[in-house]
Amino acid sequence: MTALLEAQDISKTFGNGVRAVSSVSLHVGRGETLGIVGESGWGKSTTAKMLLRLLQPDEGVVLFDGADVHRMRGSALRDLRRRMQIVPQNPQTSLNPRLTLQSSLEFNMRAHGIRAVERGRRIPDLLDRVGLDPSYARRYPHQLSGGQLQRAAIARALATGPDVVVCDEAVSALDKSVQAQVLNLLATLQRDLGIAYVFISHDLAVVEHIADRVAVMYLGRVVEQAPADALWKGARHPYTITLLSSTPGLGRERIVLDGELPSPADPPSGCGFRTRCPIAVAACADEWPLLTVRGADHLAACVHHRPQLAPAVTAVPA
Ligand SMILES: Nc1ncnc2c1ncn2[C@@H]1O[C@H](COP(=O)(O)OP(=O)(O)OP(=O)(O)O)[C@@H](O)[C@H]1O
Ligand code: SF4
Ligand SMILES: [Mg+2]
Repeated sequence: MTALLEAQDISKTFGNGVRAVSSVSLHVGRGETLGIVGESGWGKSTTAKMLLRLLQPDEGVVLFDGADVHRMRGSALRDLRRRMQIVPQNPQTSLNPRLTLQSSLEFNMRAHGIRAVERGRRIPDLLDRVGLDPSYARRYPHQLSGGQLQRAAIARALATGPDVVVCDEAVSALDKSVQAQVLNLLATLQRDLGIAYVFISHDLAVVEHIADRVAVMYLGRVVEQAPADALWKGARHPYTITLLSSTPGLGRERIVLDGELPSPADPPSGCGFRTRCPIAVAACADEWPLLTVRGADHLAACVHHRPQLAPAVTAVPA
């Protein structure tokens, strides 16, 4: 599949010396969902911001439809803003509390040059698509429940007719049952409208619901990337294996990590996972292994080709 959105070796170090993202490469095809998972602080949002052109990478490029997004100007940039939208964790950040849903949706469409007649036609359709009665157009954000607010934020993102929507922890703040409804809604919209998603979450169970392919991040790097099925059936990086083991509902024995959690401001030498990795060897302190091929479209960065985490030593009942 030709990539619609692609990151090639992007890196970002902040002024405080935090190397948030190192040499990350990702690609998302049309109508596809790329999941990005990893614990808090491992660079998921920083990566998303570079994809969305909200943050400039220090190195590397981001391509949208083959063009470098960080070099776009004028109409190409306006087009990019229309075609790439975000659904954030907190819908309040994308919905102005002083505007009705009608005005918020209008505002986003007007900003992208969509004419008044078309705006008027689209609003009831958008609300209907996200499962909100069109009468909700007159409501303010504080008059909506958490799930309804997230539906409204999705409607706002859809208003410009995007090709890619970046969902950064978009369902993390919702109850499990509401989470499932919003995930189903996203899947339906993808089927109907052919949208691609970059779906970011610290929760593998959520990503399992929706992703076609998954990138696993640790300490600013992608340590494993694979089609979702391949990852659930045969993860090849100890960090992914551990994440899977601690995800309820996947039926795995829990592997507990007891090493020290590293800091992106002062990372360890070599593989960043070695301070917690139960199967680290001396060579792991030398350098961070490159991502290498482990199967069709399956990459992992570990000195062990088929890492086995001995449950008898490291596992406790889930
Ligand atoms: N503007 C900033 N200035 C300095 N450091 C930052 C900035 N933004 C993020 N960081 C740091 O960069 C690292 C990666 O942050 P990022 O927000 O990308 O992580 P994340 O994976 O999205 O985490 P979470 O799951 O908590 O949202 C963290 O150590 C964070 O503290
Ligand atoms: S390279 Fe070494 S420390 Fe890193 S995940 Fe593999 S075994 Fe563990
Ligand atoms: Mg984040």
